[in-house]
Amino acid sequence: SGYHVAVVGATGAVGTRMLKMVAESKLPIASVLALASKRSEGKTVPFRDGTLTVHETTDDAFKGIDIALFSAGGSVSKRFAPAAVKAGAVVVDNTSAFRMEPDIPLVVPEVNPEALRTHHGIIANPNCSTIQMVTALEPIRKAFGLKQVVVSTYQAVSGAGQSAMNELFDETQAALDDKPLEPKILPTASDKKHYPIAFNALPQIDVFEPDGYSHEEWKMIHETKKIMAGDMNSDAIKVTATCVRIPVPIAHSEEVYFEIEDANATADDIRAALNDAPGVVVQDDPSQQLYPQAMNAVGSKEVFVGRIRPDAENPRFFHMWDVSDNLLKGAAWNSMQIAETMDAMGLIQPK
Ligand code: A2P
Repeated sequence: SGYHVAVVGATGAVGTRMLKMVAESKLPIASVLALASKRSEGKTVPFRDGTLTVHETTDDAFKGIDIALFSAGGSVSKRFAPAAVKAGAVVVDNTSAFRMEPDIPLVVPEVNPEALRTHHGIIANPNCSTIQMVTALEPIRKAFGLKQVVVSTYQAVSGAGQSAMNELFDETQAALDDKPLEPKILPTASDKKHYPIAFNALPQIDVFEPDGYSHEEWKMIHETKKIMAGDMNSDAIKVTATCVRIPVPIAHSEEVYFEIEDANATADDIRAALNDAPGVVVQDDPSQQLYPQAMNAVGSKEVFVGRIRPDAENPRFFHMWDVSDNLLKGAAWNSMQIAETMDAMGLIQPK
């Protein structure tokens, strides 16, 4: 006996990592079903030492499934998550489809596992840039109180999917070969214009709202409030974000400027709180040029934090630099970790 697990989007950048997280999981796994679009029917994807055959995602595909991990885009989640729930599965959804629904838990296990208790079959996995930031901020909030956050992101292209990662590689090669760059996806497939990401930095992730903020920036604001303060519109923590895509394949970096309540806490106190925190690794020694780097975070499940220092002008304000693999803690690992946490809390069990 064990869990019957389905991965929707199994051929994608996140889906392939979800399969890896299932293979590495401490949960008993009875079977794994790889689902994608009709285009991928019959293809194979690597799993453990072998492969799995990919099947088309249909309403009937979820029969007997206990846990369904979705990462095939918001429209696919909206279309098929209800069928998975109807079949008796718990859905952990990596898209933005359900994140802002008040009665759907939005969970980072290190931060708000108790929210899982209120689920009705669907649990939303937050945005990748939100997850790594709140994992690093929660121990600080707990120990010293948290009043406001100003974050600037340096985000990897894999957040826009496997095809965006390929676009970075193709453009880089073309630029070095002195050939024309032909951007087709970034900054986002869903907007009109496309710009090169190779040797560039694009201050647009997802589409813009009429207020001049990008959708990604609003995701970071609303999701942080929902996860850390229980309500997407809470004014308990002030948050603002600027999201930038940089030519890195995997792992997001973030400069986080934040204000705490405690007037006496030092950078050493913050470092100590982060050292004791689950899922966080402190890498912070400027004298040894030690700080988190995107390249070094690839393949790890943790959030790496460094450059912790007080602001020189504003009391109670600090800076830190956090880095994590956006496809793992930002997506596939956080999703599987939600399933493992639900198992540990007795909220799910194998049929
Ligand atoms: P497919 O390979 O069959 O297109 P990425 O985020 O890397 O772009 O991956 C997107 C994932 O979502 C892929 O696994 C893709 O499968 C899957 N997908 C896209 N459209 C659908 C759909 N209509 N039904 C199911 N899966 C889909």
